[in-house]
Amino acid sequence: MSITYHQPSRTFYLEGKDISYVFFINHAGYAEHLYLGEKIPHDLLLFTRAAGPGAACATVPGRDDQGKVPLCSYHEFSPELAFFGTGDFREPAVQATMPAGDRLTELLYDGHEILPEKPPIPGMPSLSGGATLVLHLRDRVNGFGADLYYTVYDDCNVIARHAVYHNGGRETVTLRRAYSFSMGMPGHAYEALTLFGTWAGERQIDRTPLHHGVFSIDSKRTSSSALLNPFLALLSPHTTEETGEVWGFSLVYSSSYVLKTDVAPNGSTVVTGGINDFDFAWQLEAGADFATPETVIAYSNRGLGGMSRAYHDAFREHLISQKYVKTPRPLLINNWEATYFKFTCQKLKDIADAVVGTGIDTLVLDDGWFGVRDSDRSGLGDWTPNTDKLEGGLSTIIDYVHEKGLKFGLWFEPEMVNEDSDLFRAHPDYAIGVPDRGRCYSRHQFVLDLTRPEVRDEIVRSVNDILHTYPIEYVKWDYNRNVTESFSFGRDPQRQAEFAHRYALGLYDICERIVRANPDVFFEGCASGGGRFDPAMLYYFPQIWTSDNSDAEDRTFIQWGTSLVYPLSSMSCHVSVCPNHQTGRTTSYATRADIAHLGATGYELDTSAWTEEEKEMVRAQTADYRAMQDLVLEGDLFRVGNISDNAFAFVLVAKDKSRARMVCYRRMGRPSNEIIRLKMAGLDPTKQYYVKELGLILGGRTLHNVGIVPKFPKGDFSTAVYTFEEK
Ligand code: GLA
Repeated sequence: MSITYHQPSRTFYLEGKDISYVFFINHAGYAEHLYLGEKIPHDLLLFTRAAGPGAACATVPGRDDQGKVPLCSYHEFSPELAFFGTGDFREPAVQATMPAGDRLTELLYDGHEILPEKPPIPGMPSLSGGATLVLHLRDRVNGFGADLYYTVYDDCNVIARHAVYHNGGRETVTLRRAYSFSMGMPGHAYEALTLFGTWAGERQIDRTPLHHGVFSIDSKRTSSSALLNPFLALLSPHTTEETGEVWGFSLVYSSSYVLKTDVAPNGSTVVTGGINDFDFAWQLEAGADFATPETVIAYSNRGLGGMSRAYHDAFREHLISQKYVKTPRPLLINNWEATYFKFTCQKLKDIADAVVGTGIDTLVLDDGWFGVRDSDRSGLGDWTPNTDKLEGGLSTIIDYVHEKGLKFGLWFEPEMVNEDSDLFRAHPDYAIGVPDRGRCYSRHQFVLDLTRPEVRDEIVRSVNDILHTYPIEYVKWDYNRNVTESFSFGRDPQRQAEFAHRYALGLYDICERIVRANPDVFFEGCASGGGRFDPAMLYYFPQIWTSDNSDAEDRTFIQWGTSLVYPLSSMSCHVSVCPNHQTGRTTSYATRADIAHLGATGYELDTSAWTEEEKEMVRAQTADYRAMQDLVLEGDLFRVGNISDNAFAFVLVAKDKSRARMVCYRRMGRPSNEIIRLKMAGLDPTKQYYVKELGLILGGRTLHNVGIVPKFPKGDFSTAVYTFEEK
């Protein structure tokens, strides 16, 4: 990785593992984007600019060059940070209302620094390390400024960007929009790929050609949400899994966000985004800074697969806790689908007894252990063990589980409160709401106002009390509704539109004080399934419950889509009972295990009903998982085929290409003579591999070109697994 400044041409060359990012400061003082793509030499790229000014070009302010080639406004160029009010009519990244009421800025080059390491973004999660360029931009009239941060890495093909805005004037200004970045792209022939979804159907793939004007995805939920993941990719035409150019934009942010493209009639495209400016206004006092969330920009010329591997490497090496990211994960039994709220201590003991010796090593006690909590109508906020239900308290079950040689995990939903709870009765104003208005109920609960320090202190105290009192090795941190009535009791009316971002900062604060302050407890994230699966949450939680839908067939879509951005090891995936509780579908145990083993695996069903035969089968499944878990934790992922096809495969390959595993999946059974051939991917073409299931040694190049003809068991929703060992 390196960052070089070529003074004569005022060009910056940033280099990551295999990528270059190039921009320069033009004669008007604007930072002008030139290139993001495969690594190239330090050639001068000014020839790539538009041949001349557009017909209706506005000049830079105050410069009418009267017949000579005018100094054009930013509108004519590819911006590094588009701003508003001075001739650029495309989507700006920033807009502020100045003390006099004007809303324009002209952000000109004002120096730069090159740092060996990126400093953390105050109060927000972000990627670690990496050489960093800080580009200082200033408005010479009003003193408003922006520092643009660019970080490159020598081990992955991403560049991390964010902006810090600065009020250099003498009075408060109102930030109306404060995005993290802009980036100009050559041409307009892109497809946008986004991940949409819903509860039990998260991160499905949408692809659509960009049209002229603005294309936008966002969240207004004070959470990243299941509806649209905070991620956008732009694809060159005809991009496939392994061919074509892809530029990915992933926000390390867990609140209301926006990502946009703006295609101008001159054929250029601007990408921008960050904190959603809908319902946003921030009072920025004189001398104050405003830091924005990081955007991780990935580039691949190896299709979507290349982009995914860039993100997986970046998140594993620089985002997820290094203590856990590559260590074997707890292989757990979770009691939720076995009992829901209706468990007894004896039932939990029976569930624990049944898993002893099967390879399952952790029992997670889900919702219902605290306060008065026999349904979702009461108890949230009261984090004291329900001694009746637990027959004596938490120690009874924890000691029992430990005696059995298992670890113990516990469910929390720290951000929430039920109306029927001691916490709400004592502090109704702790729940988000607008005075004299009713609150929306969702799952019969309200969201606590994390923008208030006293509310955060109460959450941290009550959760940490439990974690410090009992020997708990694992926590599942849930979040089961979104914010409505965004308003904070007692906050200045001028500052109410700061709410959504302040909630994110509050969430990060309690995560620091609970998750990071208990480093020996393994934390899993959750949000009604995968409703808050984003990089900011991955910074705190090495794995996240991917979806409440544990049906293997539906999970192929969910896990395929999720894997576009997020590493397999971050996806929590469980084997559950059939008929499946969410879909009513029946799939074989083998299929359920093969799909659940494509992530951080576990089981979620009533094990006390297991026969000896089932226990034996689970023992074999967990042994198989443990033997290949390094591929899940550290390997490269190749998706073979298309998720909308009848058959496709997930391929996991060791970084040194010595081992691989191909999990082939067929949705619908067909008459026996249907021949499906799936081409293997990711091997070293020059190496020989022993394919255990075929009993053959075959060349990597052969496997790539000829492929595998999977022998699926008869029936629908079947898997066939192949393993490859270098010979
Ligand atoms: C959410 C989670 C589930 C379970 C329940 C408990 O729906 O996604 O896994 O923990 O809450 O109420």
